[in-house]
Order: sequence, then structure tokens, then C-alpha cells
Amino acid sequence: ALYTLGNHTLDTQQPDRDILAALIGDETVDAELFHAANTLKIRQFGNKVFVRGIIEFSNYCRCTCAYCGINAQMTHTKRYRMMPDDLVNAAVCAAKVYRTVILQSGEDLFYTAKTLADIVRRIKEKANCAVTLSIGERTLEEYRLMREAGADRFLLKHETANAVLYESLHGAALETRLGAQRRIKALGFELGGGFMVGLPGQTDEILAEDLLTLVRERVEMAGIGPFIAHPDTDLGNALDGDPHKTLKVLALARLLLPGCHLPSTTALNVKGGMKNALLCGADVIMQKATPFEYRQLYDIYPGRDAQEVPLEEQYETLKKRLAELGLSAE
Ligand code: 5AD
Repeated sequence: ALYTLGNHTLDTQQPDRDILAALIGDETVDAELFHAANTLKIRQFGNKVFVRGIIEFSNYCRCTCAYCGINAQMTHTKRYRMMPDDLVNAAVCAAKVYRTVILQSGEDLFYTAKTLADIVRRIKEKANCAVTLSIGERTLEEYRLMREAGADRFLLKHETANAVLYESLHGAALETRLGAQRRIKALGFELGGGFMVGLPGQTDEILAEDLLTLVRERVEMAGIGPFIAHPDTDLGNALDGDPHKTLKVLALARLLLPGCHLPSTTALNVKGGMKNALLCGADVIMQKATPFEYRQLYDIYPGRDAQEVPLEEQYETLKKRLAELGLSAE
């Protein structure tokens, strides 16, 4: 499709990096851009919002991502991991409320691929739900075990598409991450990608490249959220990402990938953006289904909601909020 926004023309079949960057930087196009994204979202999904439950089952992590509050260098972080039986039980409970359960953790090698595969298999035997894994980088053979056990989807963001910035934040090469995404995709998982907006040193050209990376890697979902400085990390004094800019990038992602699932990310919700995200192209909400005792400890960035509201009640509250926006939970 061709979109005329202000004095820019965006061809979504052949998206141009410089035009995307110009759109991100031009405030005069915002109203038109948000309207176009919302119209397209409604055409794709009607007034439905897909609601998922997420269980953060371990905050142990071998990685040293500079932005992340549970990275391996955070020696003061109190660590926890759920035992497989408890995780299966929590997931089966979550599946009574949500049709998709996301299992997320730090990169914790305590869970072998076989352990994770067994967990997925047991959940799928007991509950009629889709299972999404978000557990980081593994080998093809490891991912294969998880896929064969019945895992449906996999979230692994590229975080930033600029190779220099990626390496400075992760101490590893961007290609390593893209390689893991390609293994996931090759095994037939639905791939969820995504990135952060407002990382120190990021430019609008880099954000345009982030959007093009989603297109190139053919992601079926994309989590796009503002960077939020965690005070205990090396980036503790950096400025937070701009929620408004995040919404613009989200809206552009909708135009480029009409059928892609786009969550209103937790980080965007922290910044008060859920309502706006759902009106700017997002079609998915993730709700916490982590057992209460662990919620405070999964501290990847500040401000995350660690409230102890029972799942059913949380879901009812969300449905009411959605109804006020003319939306309905799926
Ligand atoms: N600010 C925003 N998002 C963050 N994430 C991790 N740390 C931060 C932060 N400080 C996001 C990453 C990761 C997801 C689980 O959380 O994008 O993929």
C-alpha cells in the first residue's frame, strides 16, 4: 500500500529507510499516522484484543545486557526459579483464563532443553492453550526439542538493529541474535521479534532499520517498547525512551506488517500508554500470571506492576477497561 503522510509517501511494499526515519522525526504526521494504523488494525482484527498470560519463571540469567535489571552482573538481585511442577501448575491455572500462556525467564541453563520440553508437553496435555516460550538463545537441537514438545511460538527480540549499538549493549554480535531468530523460524515456531525505543545512542535511522529488520526476518509478532533506565545497571543515569515516539514506531510497524501481532508492551504500559497503544495499532495485551511471591523479583526495569490481583479479577478489570475503548478481549 501507499500512504501519504504529510509530505512523505510510504510504500509498504518497498519501505525506504530514509522515509521511515523522516516520518519518525516529523511531528506533523502523528495524527494521520495514528489514524492510518488504527484503521488498518481494525480492518485486520476488528475490535478484538488478544489477551495473553505471562509467567516469569526464573530471573537467573547468564547474559550481561547493559539495560537489564536481572543481568548476570546484578549481584544484589535476589534470584528465584520455579521448579517444573510448580511452573506446570501455574501455567495450567493461567490457561483457565488466557488462551495463550507465555513462559519467560532470564537465560537460565538450569532448565535444559529437555526440561523445558517436558514442561511444555505436560502443559499441553493438561490445558488447551497455545504455549509461547521466551527463554533466549539456544541451539537448533535445543529449540527443536521444545518445538516437538508442542511449543507454538517463541519470543526473541533483536533489541536493536544497529550492529555497533547491539554489541556495545550485549557484548555479543547482532548476527548471533539474528541467527537464533532464524533457527526459531526454521523450526516452524511463530516468531516474535521486537526492539526497544530510546536506547542511549539510538537515532531515527536506527529505528527505521529496526522496523526493516522486522520485515526482513518475517516476524509474526513484535514487541516494541520504550527503554526504561534501571538504576542499578550501567545505563542507570540514561534518559528513558519517549513513549510518544514508541507509539509512532508501533504505528509504522502496523503499516509495514498489517497482520502482525503487536502487543502494547509492558514497558509501554508502565509509561501509561496502553490505551494509546491499542488505538495506534497494537492488538495484544500481556497480563502477569507469575505467582505473587516472585513478581517483585522479576525486576528487568523499574515501575513494573507487581500487584497481587487474582488472575480472574485482573482479567475482569481489563475487560472493563477495554469495553470503555470499544474493544473486546479475545
Ligand atoms: N527497558 C525496557 N525494556 C527492557 N527490557 C529489558 N530491559 C529493559 C529496560 N531496561 C525488555 C527487552 C527484553 C524484554 C524481556 O524486556 O526488550 O527483550
